Amino acid sequence: MEKRILITGGAGFIGSHVVRRFVKSYPGYKIVNLDKLTYAGNLLNLVDIEDEPNYEFVKGDIVDAGFIADLFSVYQFDAVIHLAAESHVDRSIANPMEFVMTNVIGTVNLLNAAKEYWKGDYDKKRFYHVSTDEVYGALGETGMFTEATSYDPHSPYSASKASSDHFVRAYHDTYGLDVVISNCSNNYGSHHFPEKLIPLAINNIKNNKAVPVYGKGENVRDWLWVEDHARAIDVIFHQAKTGETYNIGGHNEWKNIDLIKLLCKIMDQKLGREAGASEQLITYVTDRAGHDLRYAIDSSKLQHNLGWVPGLQFEEGLAKTVDWYLENEQWLNDVTSSNYQSYYETQYAER
Ligand code: NAD
Ligand code: DAU
Repeated sequence: MEKRILITGGAGFIGSHVVRRFVKSYPGYKIVNLDKLTYAGNLLNLVDIEDEPNYEFVKGDIVDAGFIADLFSVYQFDAVIHLAAESHVDRSIANPMEFVMTNVIGTVNLLNAAKEYWKGDYDKKRFYHVSTDEVYGALGETGMFTEATSYDPHSPYSASKASSDHFVRAYHDTYGLDVVISNCSNNYGSHHFPEKLIPLAINNIKNNKAVPVYGKGENVRDWLWVEDHARAIDVIFHQAKTGETYNIGGHNEWKNIDLIKLLCKIMDQKLGREAGASEQLITYVTDRAGHDLRYAIDSSKLQHNLGWVPGLQFEEGLAKTVDWYLENEQWLNDVTSSNYQSYYETQYAER
């Protein structure tokens, strides 16, 4: 094997796209997907590659330091691509401690295991930490986040991710570990768990349920096709210089309400509903606490240095995403059974 790579969180939304890309593009790499299979992890996301000879799944928790250290000894990893995280802002508001455990302690456990196993010899070794634009806080009406923007996280989720980013940089500066970090904007596409805005709205519109829009729907997010993110991770993993940070984003800002209206229009067409029917489901609900107004990523460093550009135009990507959810009804039914219903009732009854 040319490389043995540990990918954490590979059964989740973005992780499954990253695992698929690496397994298919690099038959000479051994890809080990470590995932705890929380509510957000789903092996159905990877059925198409589960029998590939260069792929292996391991169930485990990154919070368990001993287990992680053993895993390095058994598999002799050359690199880590770390995506495992608690990822939903609303859940972090309800239960911050889980975010501290997985996102902070889990990341430090991985850093320690890599440092101990590689023993200061970082030639051809790499620790890639996948992070978020939310660490930069919120923008007003103008401006964009660059790699030089100061950290200013507002939610327990973004504070935990900011903390993990600081630990990754500290291990580079203190121990010389070869690290790279990327901070990406909001992803969308297939296999996205329906607690997040786009898949939640698709599921609700499909089932003629209210579509909850927080506040006045004026918050802005910068949406990127998940496969474009996976491609950026591939490029950065292979080409970035040690210690570097790259911002990844779609240059594709949408107010939530405009996005939801576009989604309603697409769903009306796909479901053969009268024009305007799905928009009737839009319901304004109590705003998220500490809700960041606007995110926008300046990805010019990535574009200029490494030649990455976003590939898919948003309207086309959104229509493809809707098609995927309508064609994969069983997947959607599986992930919205029992636990999801109680999560939804608790989360939205209070609004
Ligand atoms: P997700 O919630 O869909 O998946 C997270 C995965 O991590 C799941 O498979 C889960 O089982 C696993 N996991 C959670 N806790 C674990 C633990 N203790 N040990 C091992 N595995 C564990 O998340 P996602 O949206 O795919 O995000 C992946 C990464 O990308 C996260 O680090 C997130 O912060 C970052 N990110 C996400 C977005 C986005 O728009 N979704 C944007 C930028 C960055
Ligand atoms: O910016 C990157 C981040 O994007 C990632 O780091 C996070 O892991 C990911 O979850 C995402 O965070 P957001 O909070 O932006 O995504 P979410 O889909 O939860 O919400 C998108 C916007 O829609 C946000 O302004 C809140 C709003 N919203 C969300 C939900 C779930 C609603 O109006 N109604 C809803 O029901």
